[in-house]
Amino acid sequence: MCGIVGYIGREQAAPILLEGLSRLEYRGYDSAGVAVYDQGADTLSVHKAKGRLKVLSDQIEGGATVPGTVGLGHTRWATHGAPSDVNSHPQVSRSGKIAVVHNGIIENYAELKAFLSEQGVPFTSETDTEVVAQLIEYFYEGDLLDAVGRVLRRIEGAYALGILCSDAPDQLIAVRKDSPLILGYGEGCSFLASDVTAILRHTRQVSYMEDGELAVLTRDGIQCYNHLMQPISKEIVQVDWEVDAAEKGGYEHFMFKEIMEQPEALRRCISPRIRDGEVYFENFSLEDDYIRGLDKIYIVACGSSYHVGMVGKYHLERLTRKPVEVALASEFRYMEPIVGPNTLVIVISQSGETLDTMAALREAHRLGAKILSIVNVVGSSIARESDQVLYTWAGPEIAVATTKAYSTQLALINLLALRFARILGTITPEAYGAALEGFRQLPDMVEQVLSHRDDIQYFASQYFNHNSVFFIGRNVDYALGLEGSLKLKEISYIHSEAYASGELKHGTISLIEEGTLVIALSTYGPLFQKAMSNVVEVKSRGADVLALTTDSHREEMGRTADAVVTIPDIHELMLPSLGVVPLQLFAYYVALMRGCDIDKPRNLAKSVTVE
Ligand code: AGP
Repeated sequence: MCGIVGYIGREQAAPILLEGLSRLEYRGYDSAGVAVYDQGADTLSVHKAKGRLKVLSDQIEGGATVPGTVGLGHTRWATHGAPSDVNSHPQVSRSGKIAVVHNGIIENYAELKAFLSEQGVPFTSETDTEVVAQLIEYFYEGDLLDAVGRVLRRIEGAYALGILCSDAPDQLIAVRKDSPLILGYGEGCSFLASDVTAILRHTRQVSYMEDGELAVLTRDGIQCYNHLMQPISKEIVQVDWEVDAAEKGGYEHFMFKEIMEQPEALRRCISPRIRDGEVYFENFSLEDDYIRGLDKIYIVACGSSYHVGMVGKYHLERLTRKPVEVALASEFRYMEPIVGPNTLVIVISQSGETLDTMAALREAHRLGAKILSIVNVVGSSIARESDQVLYTWAGPEIAVATTKAYSTQLALINLLALRFARILGTITPEAYGAALEGFRQLPDMVEQVLSHRDDIQYFASQYFNHNSVFFIGRNVDYALGLEGSLKLKEISYIHSEAYASGELKHGTISLIEEGTLVIALSTYGPLFQKAMSNVVEVKSRGADVLALTTDSHREEMGRTADAVVTIPDIHELMLPSLGVVPLQLFAYYVALMRGCDIDKPRNLAKSVTVE
């Protein structure tokens, strides 16, 4: 998604903006731009270019040719108007006095554009953002904040805005609604960013803007206002992770770095949550009686987070005997879900900004449910609108394809299932203790699987030229297959699909022919023999079968499958957390061999903040 950086201080702004934008590149974009107030010329100097940030940086010699100490920068992921120089941000008003950068969508931009056009306002771009710039100028009579306030009463949709006016060059204005915006505090300077990584080199003191809030940034500090334009004070928090945590750390790709970080991420996620033989969630506000009174649990998410929910369903139902439904967030709000005060809605999101998921959260709240969210990004919108948040503590995840966030989300929902079962009395002390031991073993066992990554690289070299792949599995192996398939698709562009093994014979098996690659997942012991029969089924139709199973089933599977990858035998609750690692590595190595842009796959963004 788009990235925003703003700076006002005493140093040259352009280099700071470019450096900040470079830290946001991972979010996915197709053009970039900066607007800097040039004091000497008393004008806004605007430079923007389609393509990678380097194109823009080369144009302005790294910022050296753009003088000024206050400015805005933006990386754009096109929504309204194709990627082009003219559609890039910042967008400026007709006089060139007002520059705006924007993340999100102005849903009523067409009617506002028609109104302004009738007033004789000329438009140069196809963007919804230009409408904001033109509208601010339309209302501007010398008081910029007042003009912005009048615009906010007229625009609808999701927006994080940065605004700079050459008539008021000693301030930047920030506005937030449904799209994240962070304020940074420095000595004699202030910062604005859509993601804290953009400003972490300059300050660790930040505030997270809430929906409806505005901020006026100056060299002497930041004044915030609520939606009624009343001054408010914001909590300033200290960001405690290192800049290099958002760097590659010597790895070729962020994705590989984050795959390799999983043992440590799991330790950070799990160990503070197991104390004195009990699952422990700090500041957990959901009362035991509320859990006992639940008539349903809904899990709502998108993409890989939805796949976490699919595994969570099996484990929550198996352990708690409470009915669990899993819904795609983009479907949830339109399916008239049966949700009430005795429904717990678990919302899962790495970024905490996915608009589909946020919209589902608000719908669930409207229907009276409590929201428990499992989120990686601290202070994100979804986290702030939930009744209870469980943070994964996976650290910043930069690669578009999620890995360590998926694994820690999975660990959290399994811990939650265990805690609920303990409260409900649906698990024996022995089974509870065995599961906790499984959690303690998990990080080391992931490390063990990672130590055999060369085997996976070998199999990837055998299969990277396939153009159609099936992941088949039963129960949690089916849910695992969904994630394995998505990983492969999104970074290698190979078409693949995950299929419930038992369902294959009801039609889709017609697609299995000589040489079709089938990745057969059979880690879940109770259904191993069933899984074996499905391997025989596809083998007899000519498939090449790469099987994933546990060490104890290696020999038996090896008698039928063409190749076998195994994971250590571990408590069944941990199997998907362990089984996903070879699938992540397989997707990574295949994409590497196909020369794909692994960290920034085509058409994708790290956080999808549009519906
Ligand atoms: C996962 O590899 C994808 N990048 C994508 O499916 C992602 O999981 C989905 O967009 C949800 O994102 P979230 O977890 O940040 O809400």
